[in-house]
Amino acid sequence: MSSIQERMMRVLLGALLLFQTVLGVPSKGQIAARELTSSATTAAVTAATCNGRTEYCDRSYSNVTFIGSHDSAFVGKLPQQNQNIDIKAQLDMGVRFLQAQTHHSLLDDSVLELCHTSCVLEDAGTLESFLGTIKDWLDANTNEVVTLLLTNGDSVDITDFGDTFSNSGIADYAFAPLSSPDTLPIDEWPTIGELISSGKRLVVFLDYGTDTTKVDYILNEFNYYFETAYDVTDSSFSNCSIDRPFGASASGRMYIVNHFLDVDIFGVKIPDRQHAARTNAATGDGSIGGQASLCEDMYDRAPNAILLDFVDEGDAINAQNSLNGF
Ligand SMILES: *[C@@H]1O[C@H](CO)[C@@H](O)[C@H](O)[C@H]1NC(C)=O
Ligand SMILES: *[C@@H]1O[C@H](CO)[C@@H](O)[C@H](O)[C@H]1NC(C)=O
Repeated sequence: MSSIQERMMRVLLGALLLFQTVLGVPSKGQIAARELTSSATTAAVTAATCNGRTEYCDRSYSNVTFIGSHDSAFVGKLPQQNQNIDIKAQLDMGVRFLQAQTHHSLLDDSVLELCHTSCVLEDAGTLESFLGTIKDWLDANTNEVVTLLLTNGDSVDITDFGDTFSNSGIADYAFAPLSSPDTLPIDEWPTIGELISSGKRLVVFLDYGTDTTKVDYILNEFNYYFETAYDVTDSSFSNCSIDRPFGASASGRMYIVNHFLDVDIFGVKIPDRQHAARTNAATGDGSIGGQASLCEDMYDRAPNAILLDFVDEGDAINAQNSLNGF
């Protein structure tokens, strides 16, 4: 596709976005959020469970498989949006790993904004407000550990991330591996129970630009993980090879499987909404379980995170349970 066509496509997507904003059409996520508010506080009460199960209390963080929400903040029905339900609803349904893209705000360079490649195309609000939503949820759900994986597309200085975390009030929840500030070895991670009892119930990774001497709880993603290829258009999801970091070894790293299907429209890859239920099925060809078992054969252990679009479609939580042996 030529760059002119691509630009036209982006303008079209932008116009669609504007159209929705102007008319104020509520997204499915916003409606779901309203429906969920009344039953929000019931989940927190059960004691002696860790992320919903007693068994996780004694499991090392690095030995748990988490279903993750890819581009978790891009909620709505537009072609470039990846999720149907909002952050609170994702957490309420059991998702404990949220991935999000950050960029400079177009209006104020010092503000971090959750945007899709560009803030013209898709702007899901500030990082601070996103973190505030997660903080409120952690406040209300005291036996839960949540992981955040952020990308730093505009190479924003790490201290700006640190300030944003502090301003949102979530920084006190963030786990810092003080015994090994640069990289905690894979077999030295605390258990889910230890994270909960220490009050450090948020684990944060950033793809580029970390500096633990400045912000000790924002961890370098690629010191800890490798990832399989992303923007996959092959619905069989038959590839578990290491994509990033380039040339990395699997040994000593946790790993993230990018299990979200894209469809290529005139050279622009957009989330394949139509086949989400099949992609996110627990078992079968091209399913979560299908790709995970290919990866498990290759690396002799289950994935640590499996990133999905449209987490509410298919059978994500059953897949997560079964990968953890339940
Ligand atoms: C599998 O993924 C790796 C990493 O992204 C890539 O280099 C390789 O070409 C892929 N293999 C196939 C058959 O697509
Ligand atoms: C956790 O450990 C069990 C037992 O060794 C293993 O089968 C499983 O794949 C591990 N899961 C992860 C995510 O490391």
